[in-house]
Amino acid sequence: MNNFIYENKTKVYFGQGCVKEFLTCLVKDCDTVMMAYGQGSVKRNGIYDEVLNILMKAGKNIVEFPGIMPNPTYGKVMEGVRLAREGQVQMILGIGGGSVMDCAKAVALAAGCRGDAWENYWARKGIIDFDPIPTGMIPTTAGTGSECNGAAVITHEKRKIKTGYDYPKCSPRFALMDPVYTFSVPKEQMVAGAFDSLSHIMETYFSEPDEQNVSDELAEALMRNIIRNMRMAVENPRDYTARSNLLWDSTLSENRLIKLGKKCDFACHLMEHQLGAYTDCGHGQGMAVLHPSYYRHIYRDRLSKFARFAVNVWGISPEGKSQEELARAGIDALEAFIRDMGLPTTLRQLGIKDQKQLKSIADSCRFSPGGYRKILPGEILEIFKECF
Ligand code: NZQ
Ligand code: ZN
Repeated sequence: MNNFIYENKTKVYFGQGCVKEFLTCLVKDCDTVMMAYGQGSVKRNGIYDEVLNILMKAGKNIVEFPGIMPNPTYGKVMEGVRLAREGQVQMILGIGGGSVMDCAKAVALAAGCRGDAWENYWARKGIIDFDPIPTGMIPTTAGTGSECNGAAVITHEKRKIKTGYDYPKCSPRFALMDPVYTFSVPKEQMVAGAFDSLSHIMETYFSEPDEQNVSDELAEALMRNIIRNMRMAVENPRDYTARSNLLWDSTLSENRLIKLGKKCDFACHLMEHQLGAYTDCGHGQGMAVLHPSYYRHIYRDRLSKFARFAVNVWGISPEGKSQEELARAGIDALEAFIRDMGLPTTLRQLGIKDQKQLKSIADSCRFSPGGYRKILPGEILEIFKECF
């Protein structure tokens, strides 16, 4: 295995009722707490009231930061920064999906930054030489794993760039993960989130080193678990077992654990982030559209790994099949699963109407150094066209 350093300082409280049980004691050291949330789901499903009541009972000053949109923008981050500075916020609670949690972490970082936060921390990977405002996360979707990592994926509207780096200093202090909070996520969003977790694992698994290593074996177990529990949650959205598995799968897929010692590809993520920057499409949905086509482009660069994926993740029998046939069968199984789950399969379904846009988007994609092969903008454009 390759060398690595591992740290994840987020303390996790997992299970039904965890917010009621632990939130008061987790905010005991701060007088002023920011409640960061999205565009209304937490008010409709009662989570906002539950959290607000706990904070009021504990006598906290509350600074509200509502209206965080999916694919949060840098403009929205700077709105939060102004509120955090004016209100002298001592802790930021992100109550929502990946977009809310990312925006909360971005505000925590940018509020403490003296220079241009975008230039220092998003345009390139920077060094954080101060302590960002502490954050705590209450995820209401399963998918991104944002509750247990230091990444804040933000869109710069004017520059048309969507990006984010995992800064350990931005890891939340705690995550309160109640699977019941995800019950109200609509089916389309639930399968998109779960597919995002699956894609984090695939983008890690399909990268070097490929000789036997524990990360790949963990990855296979996690992929099988996500596939099984997605099916169960589609069947019964209030299935606590399925929802709790998906919520923890989401954390494990993006809390740095399975990435240890792996190069990590994330080419599909880099492509999807730029599609999102230009068109505001949903992240998990974009991942579902791109993956089969991307893998048909690269599977010959590591036939043995794609064959292993077919056998160990999709349960395809190797008997009588060449490595090439097996590898293709694995990608076909992935594609069939995407259709089965009702996920989108074309860019048009994501609302992208103008094929002429695709070249500019392809040209704007960053190159992924961890992939099996260097994919250049010309090939990215081919992939986009195949997916259109
Ligand atoms: O805004 P509200 O009203 O809250 O509605 C949201 C939103 O419309 C809704 N929703 C959230 N929880 C709900 C709910 N609806 C009903 N019941 C609930 N319990 O779902 C919609 C989508 O929410 P969003 O947060 O955008 O989805 P997701 O969790 O998939 O997050 C996606 C964002 O995370 C980034 C993505 O790029 C995207 O911006 N990512 C963050 C990562 C990280 N920090 O590590 C890694 C990922 O690869 C990803 O890039
Ligand atoms: Zn993702």
